[in-house]
Order: sequence, then structure tokens, then C-alpha cells
Amino acid sequence: MLKKLLSLKDQVVIDLKNAITVNEVGNIKALYLGKKSPLQELMAKMKDLSIEEKKEIGMATNEFKRFVEDAVIKRLSEINELEIQNKLNSEEIDVTLPGRKFRSGKLHPLTKIARQVEEIFIGMGYKVEEGPEIEQDLYNFEMLNLPKGHPAREMQDSFYIDNNTLLRTHTSPVQVRTLLKAKGEPVKIICPGKVYRRDNDDATHSHQFMQIEGLVVDKNITMADLKGTLELLCKRIFGENLKIRLRPSFFPFTEPSVEVDVTCFKCGGNGCGLCKQSGWIEVLGAGMVHPNVLEMAGYDSKVYQGFAFGLGIERFAMLKYEIDDIRHFYTNDPRFLKQF
Ligand code: FA5
Repeated sequence: MLKKLLSLKDQVVIDLKNAITVNEVGNIKALYLGKKSPLQELMAKMKDLSIEEKKEIGMATNEFKRFVEDAVIKRLSEINELEIQNKLNSEEIDVTLPGRKFRSGKLHPLTKIARQVEEIFIGMGYKVEEGPEIEQDLYNFEMLNLPKGHPAREMQDSFYIDNNTLLRTHTSPVQVRTLLKAKGEPVKIICPGKVYRRDNDDATHSHQFMQIEGLVVDKNITMADLKGTLELLCKRIFGENLKIRLRPSFFPFTEPSVEVDVTCFKCGGNGCGLCKQSGWIEVLGAGMVHPNVLEMAGYDSKVYQGFAFGLGIERFAMLKYEIDDIRHFYTNDPRFLKQF
């Protein structure tokens, strides 16, 4: 029986060589050293043997056991090596392949214009204010001299949440909020932000767009201050050679009110397709703050005057970059966006 056991050594070597997984090696180990192995069978019979035989067989079985264990450890380390090698081969990196281009993002053209306008006004000592996009009727209309039922509300139809809450239709409610906060003190602010109207989307209208509001309230503020400020703004954005003109208009919260046109920067004022042959392009609405607005916010309109303006950022960007459709700003096509 001992002979049979020792003759198994060659078979152990062959079996282990054929094993290619850790599991298979484990099974082979169990086969030769486990409970039902020839080794255990032999050891079970030892109790019936003489001391001499016990000694001889004891040494031989120990030697067999060590032989199997060493062979198992050796095979396991070979399998481990093999697995590492396979992994390295399968994950091989071809350093000669051309690299993938890393595309970095850029500022959106609307953000660019907004930041340019902000910088110009911060340079003139203006503060940048913010207001909520979900606004109360009180600030969006009533305190801007647009009481309920006023026909001019028609020009700015909104998305209502309830009778008194709506998505703001312009940034002008920030005028009211700022004046109330300033409690009769002078004010010099701009306010960029999103606004919403129930306008049908077309090439020049969007139901959501951006405005920048401007408001200056102090003693001795005149229409000349308004004109000088807007001229500086338009020249910085559209070019130093440009002229501006103020056309009479109507806003309930300013008196007098004006629309501001700039000379067409494409044709220099001669008339072209962009300016519809007029030589002028309308860029924003403005005016002197209506006394009712000042009074409602707690200012004495005999002592304080002010001017205000509101420009559409999309329209500014369209004119500056000659973009023919406002919807390009919101469709997020990289072919459009990467041009700026
Ligand atoms: C106003 O919203 C006034 N609050 C502006 C103002 C402020 C006047 C302070 C006087 C004093 P208006 O509705 O004209 O005015 O809009 C101002 C600008 O927003 C327009 O000149 C235009 O550039 C832009 N705009 C208006 N409607 C849309 C629209 N549907 N899509 C894109 N831009 C628009």
C-alpha cells in the first residue's frame, strides 16, 4: 500500500500540471490528501502495525504529504503568474495610437455679453443686484405704475402661478425691490437675469430670455445722464464709431420714455438688410423713472429723480455677432456655440 502511495507522486505532478485554475488545484489537493485519499486510508491502518512499521510508514506518509503540499504551492504560484501575464497582455496599451482630442468648453455667448455689460457698469460704480424669477404681481406690475387692468399689461403677458404670483416678465421689479431696500437713499444698480413672457417663439422672440436692468436714483439726475450712460454702453459693446438716437416711446414706469437705436454697425448707417434699410437698429428701452414709482417706493419725487433702462441680452448678442435666429442660443448645438 505504501508502494502504491509513493507511486502516486508522478500522477500528482501530471495532475497539477493539467490544472489551470485555483479551484482545480484545490480539488487535486483534496484528492491526494483529503479524507478519502489513499494517504488517509493508509494512516487509518497504522494502529494495527508494529512500532518499526509505524515509524517507516509515518516517515513515508509525511514525506508524501510534504511533497504534495509543495507541489500545490508551486502550481498555485505558477497559475498566479499566468493570470497576471494574461491580464497584462489583454490590457496592453498601444502608445503609438494617436491621442484623443480633449474638447474644453467655453462661455456661452449670452454669458459673455452679460459679463461685458456688467464690467462696464461696475467700472462706473454700479452694484449688481439680483431678484427672484418667481415674482409677485405687486412688484412686476403694480408698483411699476401698472395697476390691475392697465392696458399696457397686454404687452407683457406672463405665465401665472396664481392670481398674484407669476414668472417675471422683465427685470424691472428689481427696481422696486432695490428702492424699498434702500429706504430713500440714492441707488445705482444693474440687474441681469432671466425673464419669461407668453410670446410665441420666432426668429427674434423667445418665451424665456435675458435682460439687464439699470437704475440710478439720486438728486439732479437728468435725461443727459441717461443718454451719456447708454452711449458709453453701446460704444463699448458695438464699437466707438457708432451713434445712438433716442426715440419717444411709452413705458408706464418711465416718463418720458424712449427706445434707443444705434447706427447699424453692418452698413454704418447707409441702410442694409440687417437694419431694414433704415440705418438704425433698436437695442433697448429706457426713460426717466416715473414720479409715481418713486413715491410708491417712499422717495420724494420733488427731491429725487432717476433714470432706468432695460436691454435684451439676446438682442445685443444677435446684433453684435450677426446671429439671425434667437433660437440658436437655446438649442445648444456645439457647431454654433464654438464660434464664440
Ligand atoms: C421692458 O421689458 C422694460 N422693462 C424695459 C425698461 C426698463 C424700460 C426700464 C424703461 C425703463 P421691453 O418689453 O421693450 O421693455 O423689453 C426690453 C427688451 O427685451 C427689448 O428691447 C428686447 O431686446 C427684449 N425682448 C422683449 N421681448 C423679447 C422676447 N420675447 N424675446 C427676446 N427678447 C425680448
